[in-house]
Amino acid sequence: MSRKVNVAIVGLGFGAEFIPIYQRHPQAHMYALCQRSSEKLEAAAKAFGVEKKYTAFEDLLRDPAVDAVHINSPIHLHASQSIAALRAGKHVACTVPACTTVEEAREIVKASRESGKKYMMMETVVWSREYLFVRELRDTGRLGRIQFVRGSHLQNMAGWPGYWEGLPPMHYATHCVSPCLGIVNGEAEHVSCLGSGRIAEARIAKYGSPFAFETAHFKVRNQDVAGEVTRYLFDSARQYQESFDCYGSKTSFEWQLTEHDDPVLHVGGEDVEKVKIPDYAGLLPEAIRPFTTKGVYDLQENAHLSFLQGSGHGGSHPHLAHEFISAIVDNRPGFPDLYQSVNWTMVGILAHESALRGGERIQIPNFRGV
Ligand SMILES: NC(=O)c1ccc[n+]([C@@H]2O[C@H](COP(=O)([O-])OP(=O)(O)OC[C@H]3O[C@@H](n4cnc5c(N)ncnc54)[C@H](O)[C@@H]3O)[C@@H](O)[C@H]2O)c1
Repeated sequence: MSRKVNVAIVGLGFGAEFIPIYQRHPQAHMYALCQRSSEKLEAAAKAFGVEKKYTAFEDLLRDPAVDAVHINSPIHLHASQSIAALRAGKHVACTVPACTTVEEAREIVKASRESGKKYMMMETVVWSREYLFVRELRDTGRLGRIQFVRGSHLQNMAGWPGYWEGLPPMHYATHCVSPCLGIVNGEAEHVSCLGSGRIAEARIAKYGSPFAFETAHFKVRNQDVAGEVTRYLFDSARQYQESFDCYGSKTSFEWQLTEHDDPVLHVGGEDVEKVKIPDYAGLLPEAIRPFTTKGVYDLQENAHLSFLQGSGHGGSHPHLAHEFISAIVDNRPGFPDLYQSVNWTMVGILAHESALRGGERIQIPNFRGV
């Protein structure tokens, strides 16, 4: 694409974090904002100086000037809005998870293939500075052979918007699944999962999911590597943690147990090194580098809750926006690509299915090359 990419952001809770990043990106034009309530829409448009405003997603899709939509609406809308946008000829970036059913995953793949438009799940963890650090260890050969991967996302979601209440933990598992599969550049072949504990009775009915924790194993397709992920959302005492560990034959990376400590490198035998993770802003166009270390608002109290709890999502937001725009401009798949995006989401969906069936192994559909 020779001109700037006209981007529309849908959903202005978490989504608002990305407005000034696209505004400063040299190859993007922050063209339009879309969200249901006109009051919040007007306020955001005024605050950031964005002229085009839509309260109806369908109207936004009818605007031929929109090249790409970045969807940040509630979870249950991700798939239907992504599919509609792809079918309307727009490139799609969608926050996690990509979808909530295998059927939706299949439809996203179909819509992206048939329209020829890019689809990228905006997984913050695989563009966090910790992930980029481990990627560097991998690419410089320091890890050696990757032997095992493990992730956990432990978060108390009490008090978040209503659709979170009682959500099966593995239905929001991409933050721990994605770094495990990203670092081996792979997709999962099958998964099995156990549920553990029980959440408050009032929370169970909505999704029919009783488990406090869910813990899953998956096998990486065409590789002899397996991974393990653990999640909880309610009624458990544990500080926030969004972690991943990567065990190599020469060096292993292990996440710290508590926030504000440093991760550890096991470098063989009994030797360990604590590491200070560097920032990778240098990989970005200069204008958006400051966003790896600060949110969009100068006032801390205005930042999105997930940004505060998640330590700024590891500085990932400008990397994600840059990857999405670059994929469009260079006409190449983004990272994660279409197939990784839906596979990494399906690991969680089918893990929960497995937990409901007492840990049965479930095969994950392979849409790549089919
Ligand atoms: N680290 C991460 O990757 C991360 C962090 C936070 C949130 N998220 C994801 O972002 C999404 C939004 O989270 P949130 O906390 O901002 O949620 P929220 O419920 O606070 O906000 C959702 C926004 O979507 C808008 N919206 C709802 N229905 C719409 C429609 N039909 N058309 C257009 N806009 C619509 C709402 O007006 C609101 O602005 C969630 O799905 C969550 O999974 C991801």
